[in-house]
Amino acid sequence: MSAPQLRVAVVTGAASGIGRVTALRLADAGYDLALMDVDRDGLTRTCAQIEDAGGVARAFPADLRNPDEIGSVTREVAVTRGAPALLVNVAGTGLVATVLETSDEDWDRVLSVNLTGSFLTARAMLPLMLDNGGGVIINVASVAGQVGLPRRAAYCASKAGLVGLTRAIAVDHAKDGIRCVAICPGTVATEWVDKMVADAPDPAVARQAMAARQLDGRLGSPEEVAATIAFVAGPEGRFINGTALIIDGGLTAA
Ligand SMILES: NC(=O)c1ccc[n+]([C@@H]2O[C@H](COP(=O)([O-])OP(=O)(O)OC[C@H]3O[C@@H](n4cnc5c(N)ncnc54)[C@H](O)[C@@H]3O)[C@@H](O)[C@H]2O)c1
Repeated sequence: MSAPQLRVAVVTGAASGIGRVTALRLADAGYDLALMDVDRDGLTRTCAQIEDAGGVARAFPADLRNPDEIGSVTREVAVTRGAPALLVNVAGTGLVATVLETSDEDWDRVLSVNLTGSFLTARAMLPLMLDNGGGVIINVASVAGQVGLPRRAAYCASKAGLVGLTRAIAVDHAKDGIRCVAICPGTVATEWVDKMVADAPDPAVARQAMAARQLDGRLGSPEEVAATIAFVAGPEGRFINGTALIIDGGLTAA
């Protein structure tokens, strides 16, 4: 008797931070992982971690700003793994700047990774999901998609756009068995935040200020975000659709 086929999950941004930990969590939940990122070495490390833990994963390096690369990865995933049951768009990039401080190049970079990249992966993979009778798309947005944060003009715009895209996909495709949900984390302790802290004039003060933004007085962990994603993707999350779940330790409550 052949082994039952695993459900395929595509995770972008899987070389680092929330994407890496989400991939590990989903592998643990029994998914066959197709991992995308522009960082090849990071992807290789995530795959090795999953395989060491007994899971199944394969790296599909791609720059999400390039529709051709997304198209060829989608075809390769379809041929080698099968139609994805789950797409988790985690890849993202940031910018600390007001509108007046934002160059055309920076605006394009942030919007093209955070918003257009998620649009492109969804547009490429939805037909496979539809042929397969349905699926789940989870977009990792941010509290910056819910409220304005200081000196995050392009980032806030990209994440608010991603929340809007999420609702639109849900409305258009609920009848086809597709769910689409945005996750909006507060400040999460990842490599990204480590770098922001390290670049600050006083790193200890910067980390303390970031922790203090949450009512809990601490940063979230990538594991907490990954657990939320796994719950939303799984059968217990099946009534969650077309919405944005905030997981922020109370940052947006005040
Ligand atoms: N860390 C936080 O505090 C926080 C809070 C809210 C939302 N988020 C969101 O969570 C997501 C992950 O953030 P993180 O903190 O894990 O960051 P991270 O920097 O650790 O990981 C981001 C990953 O995205 C990849 N990536 C960037 N540009 C890409 C491109 N053009 N093509 C393919 N891959 C690309 C990077 O290589 C990296 O592996 C982002 O979308 C971010 O906006 C993070």
